[in-house]
Amino acid sequence: MRKSTGVLVAGVVGLAFATGVAVAAEKDIKMPRVPAGELQKAKDTKSPLKMTPDVIAKGKAVFEGKGTCFTCHGQTGKGDGPAGAALDPSPRNFANPEFAKIRTEGEMFWVVKNGSPGTGMIAYAPAMINDEEAWQAIAYARSLGGAK
Ligand code: HEC
Repeated sequence: MRKSTGVLVAGVVGLAFATGVAVAAEKDIKMPRVPAGELQKAKDTKSPLKMTPDVIAKGKAVFEGKGTCFTCHGQTGKGDGPAGAALDPSPRNFANPEFAKIRTEGEMFWVVKNGSPGTGMIAYAPAMINDEEAWQAIAYARSLGGAK
């Protein structure tokens, strides 16, 4: 009995991988998410807000409230939220310090405004949050990776 259960579990795990049900990997952080033609403009876009404790606190409220970001990106931004578990690629891990070094705030803003084509990340502004709230949420996300 034991043996056959083991085989069954292995089979189910194998099937999960084959059908993409298993938790997927993130896309390479070195790969820009903004299309080439718009990349430079996105990189040059600067937040109108400073990374003050007040802005970060407001961003946390957006992230965990109105923006629903936490459902996919996770309560601590690690990309491990329940609604993101089945997504391939998986939601970005904002707690990775390398991410905030490679990705500019302007590129992140572009994704919040346009979505990341071909992924579960859809456009959240202006449908659910306004531009100011988007910048606040981005400040909070970047703070999780140690950005100042
Ligand atoms: C339904 C799940 C889901 C929700 C809700 C969600 N995201 Fe995402 N997000 C994703 C996925 C999946 C990716 C990875 C896309 C990729 O790798 O291109 C992503 C990527 C991103 C990126 C781009 C990271 C990069 O590599 O440049 C940003 C910025 C982002 N999300 C911000 C947010 C913010 C802010 C919110 C809330 C307003 C939010 N997301 C809500 C699923 C979600």
